[in-house]
Amino acid sequence: MTSRYSLKLLYPRDEIAGEVRRMAERISVDYAGKDLLVIGVLKGAAIFLSDLVRAITIPVEFDFIGLASYGDRVTSCGEVKITAYPTSAMEGRHLLVVEDIVDTGLCVDSLLKFLKERNPASLKLCALLDKPVRRQVPVNIDYSAFTIPDKFVVGYGLDYAQRYRNLPGIHTLEEAADD
Ligand code: PRP
Repeated sequence: MTSRYSLKLLYPRDEIAGEVRRMAERISVDYAGKDLLVIGVLKGAAIFLSDLVRAITIPVEFDFIGLASYGDRVTSCGEVKITAYPTSAMEGRHLLVVEDIVDTGLCVDSLLKFLKERNPASLKLCALLDKPVRRQVPVNIDYSAFTIPDKFVVGYGLDYAQRYRNLPGIHTLEEAADD
């Protein structure tokens, strides 16, 4: 007997697009007149960020930071390291971290601590997906779209072993027994 994975659609692209537009509208209002720097967490947030910033209607800059925690596994190993640093100036600016998902919270907790030491004017978090059932450290998410159950999800930037990031919708990935 072998095992394989099956994909089930959780959020289609249109539903995601609607939520991204709503978040962008709120962000555009909240940061009007402010020097906004959006920082996307590689690689998972790259696709979300690219849609989000195009829906923001006020001046905005963006940059990326590379974090690694999962490796090629389905569960978080809890180890967080910075693999790529943003090049933008951060002191005195309004930083908005953009994540695809907050799961255990370990990645973003460590990232927010790192960014706070850069003395920004403000520091907030935007996460497309929130999986609170797996949280290991408390995280305050300022903008979020979907609260999801304890399922492994892929698509719209999220991967399993680097695959499926290019799917336009978000899917659950479930192990299916096969003979
Ligand atoms: C994932 C995801 C978040 C983090 C969330 O990144 O993109 O950054 O894990 O998990 P946590 O809340 O348990 O810390 P991953 O390390 O898989 O890298 P990737 O973005 O390149 O897929």
